[in-house]
Amino acid sequence: MSDPKTYPPSADFVERANLQGLDAYRELYEQAKADPERFWGDLALNELTWFRPFSKTLEWDPPFAKWFTGGTINACYNCIDRHLKTDRRTKPALIWEGEPGDQRVITYEELHRLVARFATVLKGLGYRKGDRAVIYMPMIPELPIAMLACARLGIVHSVVFGGFSAEALKARIQDLDAWVVITADGGWRRGKEVRLKGAVDEALEDCPYVRHVVVYKRTGSGIPMKEGRDVWWHEQDDELGAIPQVEEDAEACPAEELDSEHPLYVLYTSGTTGKPKGILHTTAGYLLETSVSMKWVFDLHEDDVYWCTADIGWVTGHSYIVYGPLAAGATSVMYEGAPDYPAFDRFWQIVEKYRVSIFYTSPTAIRALIRQGDQWPNAHDLSSLRVLGSVGEPINPAAWEWYYRVIGKERCPIVDTWWQTETGAIMISAAPGAVALKPGSATLPLPGIVVDIVDADGQILGNNREGYLIIRKPWPSMVRNIWGDPKRFQEQYWSRVPGSYFTGDAARRDDDGYYWILGRVDDVMNVSGHRLSTMEVESALVHHPAVAEAAVVAKPHEITGQAVCAFVTCKKGDWNHDALGQELRQWVAHEIGPFARPEEIRFTDALPKTRSGKIMRRLLREIVTTHAVTGDVTTLEDLTVVSKLASQQEPE
Ligand code: PRX
Repeated sequence: MSDPKTYPPSADFVERANLQGLDAYRELYEQAKADPERFWGDLALNELTWFRPFSKTLEWDPPFAKWFTGGTINACYNCIDRHLKTDRRTKPALIWEGEPGDQRVITYEELHRLVARFATVLKGLGYRKGDRAVIYMPMIPELPIAMLACARLGIVHSVVFGGFSAEALKARIQDLDAWVVITADGGWRRGKEVRLKGAVDEALEDCPYVRHVVVYKRTGSGIPMKEGRDVWWHEQDDELGAIPQVEEDAEACPAEELDSEHPLYVLYTSGTTGKPKGILHTTAGYLLETSVSMKWVFDLHEDDVYWCTADIGWVTGHSYIVYGPLAAGATSVMYEGAPDYPAFDRFWQIVEKYRVSIFYTSPTAIRALIRQGDQWPNAHDLSSLRVLGSVGEPINPAAWEWYYRVIGKERCPIVDTWWQTETGAIMISAAPGAVALKPGSATLPLPGIVVDIVDADGQILGNNREGYLIIRKPWPSMVRNIWGDPKRFQEQYWSRVPGSYFTGDAARRDDDGYYWILGRVDDVMNVSGHRLSTMEVESALVHHPAVAEAAVVAKPHEITGQAVCAFVTCKKGDWNHDALGQELRQWVAHEIGPFARPEEIRFTDALPKTRSGKIMRRLLREIVTTHAVTGDVTTLEDLTVVSKLASQQEPE
């Protein structure tokens, strides 16, 4: 198969790169392959700061891994305290821009003070190692501060994306059995207040065991506070009194000495059932790979200003706004609002203002901005940029070329990073000073990552064959378990090819060893780079009193990659389909969150089913993609259902 143009790294870039030239990458890759435990063990000793070094690199009892056993460590200490002994003490750790234009620059020293104070607040409220906290906040510095304060004390945190509804929030609080919720009154998005505290109140009606809600005042809009449960962040902070010296603070609230495998966080993500999975990440291994990938993939140098535009509510923000960049001592930019507010050049304005040198975003954002025209980026000085990144979904070559030409001015390599919530850190991506780029390919696996492509029987396929992407060897930042559900963990990821991790993605490898990710092979959709299961949306729809049955499929979408399309049959009654369609879209937004709102609802008298009653989603997918059905329909119960659906007009 012939591949498109390749883009080798420029001599200038290679000269300054952390990994210089293909041979350097290959050497490292081979080293890791030959003796993975030694490779990861040495790296962990060099990159992380330990209270007590580990005695064993890996204990692998598939599918359960323990990395760096016998060691003690703290993620918050590695992200903050250890930098205070260096020149990084006064370096900005976070540069934050609020959507209304407010701004905060927080040095490592200041971040330490803020985190230690908030950790003291949590401690004062009675929380300690092993407790669980749910964090539901806008993109303000207090979000990473809350995460780091939890990590400092060994409290397991679970950040719930602010776009999730009260229902989704409740399910997560309950699954995790969290006793404390950290939130804010609201945040700003497209000039409007996104209220959060109301959703918390609604969620907590069914969670009486939650003892405290700590509320940060961001917008200042009046909200009810429940006596005995709700406390203001600033009032708690005031009670701590005068600000002691940093050193004294460190003594007052030292980072807990935790086991390497101490749970750091649980992040819920969509699987193939209606119930999200709590992906568990632990401390040392996660920290190692998120921080080392900052150097390999983003080619991080001391003077870089790095900006990842993701929301911290998703894994990209956890790994590449908070833990990875801070552990690596970077300056990380954080922005509260929407990319198109107040105008389509907000990203480029921020790049120019803070002289951003590494910029990491999603293909959806790129495609949305392409549409608005080149005049927006062209109005800004983007000369500070030197590395561009992409994540979350396949980037189509046309979007890649635009990003390369219009944003990077043909100077900046684009690292297309493939990974997942479960992998914790980037698995497949170019090291930009070593690997030539091919638009649309994530390129090569990182050192220590052994991937392959297999067929449905788990047999390894050769080059240029499409199959399932698997990861064959354990890696330090790998998911450790599904919270409370080891059986599902085993079945979901480790049963297809025993001992190997099943990614759920299809891919092929070309003759240069480059990986081309083709998308999900299961019932997981990818809308704007956000994972969503068809079953989750279906179960939300069938909760509605008018709905008898629902089947949801992803349909291709020019901007968001995929969009949600729902086929619905109604219970008996005289329904106005226009009005009901609107209501159901709103209903899904209420049940899951606005990002899950179906783009399209198609009403039908019946759904295509097999004789055993299973909905044939494959046919529905064909109908929304090609408007026709070509495959085998012999198992279908009622053939006329399909022809009716296929001939239906697509709504506006
Ligand atoms: O299908 C792949 C797609 O996003 C899925 C993982 O989603 P999530 O766990 O939400 O994490 C997103 C951010 C890491 C994958 O199974 N995906 C992610 N990155 C890429 C991608 N597809 C193609 N190219 C990528 N670079």
